[in-house]
Amino acid sequence: MTDTYDVVIIGAGPGGYNAAIRAGQLGLKTAIIEKRDNKKLGGTCLNVGCIPSKALLHASQLYEIAEKDFDGLGIKATGLKVDLVQMLKQKDDAVEGLTKGVEFLMKKNKVEVFYGAGEILSAGRVLVSGPDGDKELDTKNIVIATGSEVTPLPGVEIDEEQIVSSTGALALSPVPKHLVVIGGGVIGLELGSVWRRLGAKVTVVEFLDKILPTMDGEVSKQFQRILKKQGVAFKLSSKVTGAEKLKTKVKLSVEPAKGGEAETIDCDAVLVAIGRRPHTDGLGLETVGVKTDKRGFIETDHFQTNVKGIWALGDCITGPMLAHKAEDDGTACIELIAGKAGHVNYDTVPSVVYTYPEVAAVGKTEEQLKEAGVKYKTGKFPFMANSRAKTNHETDGFVKVLADAETDKVLGVHIIGVEAGELIAEAVSVMEFGGASEDIARTCHAHPTRSEAVRQAAMGVEGWTMQA
Ligand code: FAD
Ligand code: NAI
Repeated sequence: MTDTYDVVIIGAGPGGYNAAIRAGQLGLKTAIIEKRDNKKLGGTCLNVGCIPSKALLHASQLYEIAEKDFDGLGIKATGLKVDLVQMLKQKDDAVEGLTKGVEFLMKKNKVEVFYGAGEILSAGRVLVSGPDGDKELDTKNIVIATGSEVTPLPGVEIDEEQIVSSTGALALSPVPKHLVVIGGGVIGLELGSVWRRLGAKVTVVEFLDKILPTMDGEVSKQFQRILKKQGVAFKLSSKVTGAEKLKTKVKLSVEPAKGGEAETIDCDAVLVAIGRRPHTDGLGLETVGVKTDKRGFIETDHFQTNVKGIWALGDCITGPMLAHKAEDDGTACIELIAGKAGHVNYDTVPSVVYTYPEVAAVGKTEEQLKEAGVKYKTGKFPFMANSRAKTNHETDGFVKVLADAETDKVLGVHIIGVEAGELIAEAVSVMEFGGASEDIARTCHAHPTRSEAVRQAAMGVEGWTMQA
């Protein structure tokens, strides 16, 4: 005998577990399947992504502040040193606490959890093969939320010790003397920052001629300058063509991206961070005829795949590979399954790089607006002129607001600055409501706060900035 569910969700990351919670709330009989060996829910984000990386970014940043800024603030601290074992442990504790929280939420919302690999046998049936044996589940709807995995780099094989992916880079011990990061994207710059703060020399090798290539060009340029000042070395327009592992060292062959003379870089550890790809192996997609695109992403229309009753969301479909996007997908997909009006506005999904300072963005970049031939106005405000930033000795960065030249509608907001990830929320709300830069400019902001810089940048769109 098999059980019959309204929804069976495969994958318990932010997409899957938020879908499960919403399904439980709407009274749907729901099961979720997770194949992680350690029987932990929460997916990439909680186990080896957002959460452990932010725990290390926070701790390592406090160390750097204590080491470099305390003197200037009139605080004398002596004998400061890193206890790497404890720093890694508090990261693991954060993961443990939050994954337990997801387990609790499954219980609270009456979601049945199955540990094992899910495989779709047909549109209404899923096989779970796990440590507790095999089981088949009958269901009206299947939701694929299997996330993404590291994109490998041919010739640079990941062993998670000397040559690591983001997962290995969350647990390096001891601190490497020289870490080479391949890929100047979000993972490379966040985890590169962690190890630099803890004492590593960090070299970032990036294929393109700029870091964070999808961000606004001005942001990318200024951010690289800031990181360089902090001690990160960059080799742009370069590609790694091979890695030779010696006992404790790695020799990397690096060439100009367009070809040319190769050079060798010696290092102790290598982080491969050239992107992530959809994770759909062993799911049975071919058997049931679910279509994927050229890059392996599952094709969907409002989360519905080409096979009726099979849905997909999160990192394994197109769109930004971000936890909050996956969460919103999860909620909307279940609402559609339940006959409600689930919707995600992909034009207002913010992205944040949790470095110091942070980088945050929502909407279009100047480059995208130019390419689309949209006429726009720009307002910019530097944190150097913001009273809170000055008081706190945190003046790096700026806010840039892009608004439609005719209607003043906000089209994009880009911020480099301390707590940029928090500041961007205001811009996201305004854009979600279709607001204008004048709406931000005429809204009262508390003084002294960094959020005043967002207001001043919005005022700048009409040329009436007060404080600069
Ligand atoms: P996932 O979180 O990948 O979850 C999918 C789950 O499905 C996994 O647990 C997997 O084991 C399981 N699974 C796969 N196949 C099967 C199967 N056949 N049967 C059963 N289970 C299966 N995003 C942010 O927004 N902010 C951040 O700060 C951030 N930091 C990150 C840092 C790092 C180092 C990394 C790697 C990623 C980070 N991300 C961040 C991205 C974020 O982790 C992902 O966008 C998010 O986890 C995607 O959620 P998801 O539910 O689609 O997939
Ligand atoms: P990414 O796409 O952000 O960056 C990859 C970088 O590698 C790009 O700059 C690309 O040009 C470069 N690259 C590609 N091939 C290369 C090669 N052969 N040699 C050198 N450089 C090469 O990917 P990343 O950093 O691996 O992160 C994956 C995804 O995880 C992100 O896109 C993001 O969606 C998510 N993530 C989000 C975080 C956040 O929200 N704060 C933090 C970490 C990850």
